[in-house]
Amino acid sequence: AVQKTYSMIKPDGVRNGHIGEIVNRFERAGLVVERMELGMVTDEQAKANYAEHEGKPFYDGLISYITSGPVVKMVISGEGAVAKCRALMGATNPAEAAPGTIRGDFGLIMDENVIHGSDSPESAEREIGIFFA
Ligand code: CMP
Repeated sequence: AVQKTYSMIKPDGVRNGHIGEIVNRFERAGLVVERMELGMVTDEQAKANYAEHEGKPFYDGLISYITSGPVVKMVISGEGAVAKCRALMGATNPAEAAPGTIRGDFGLIMDENVIHGSDSPESAEREIGIFFA
């Protein structure tokens, strides 16, 4: 089915100059960029997006990191967009992400892993509501 997913190039991905390459990979995979905006994530958006991680040891660092510099917020659509995006992203930990994936090629550490992608169509709807209200 044609789906929408929320994807976000994180502050390290923007800072290290990977915006064009990441968008290029999505488009080459047949995905369509429906909305795209460069900007900061507010504290409120960060906390809403990462509510599931509240209380975990990495939570405070995660919130301050994701609000530390501009990100690229995107709505991506296409056939099986959620799974396609996640396959292009690779494993959460860049050290475990396969070469050829975005995190495998551009990620350095777990806490700054280049890109975010929704894990289900339901998460996508929620996250699009947070970042494109
Ligand atoms: P992501 O899955 O996009 O969103 C939560 C982020 O928290 C995750 O990427 C990692 O960058 C970071 N993180 C740090 N430590 C962990 C951990 N132990 N488990 C999951 N995510 C972690």
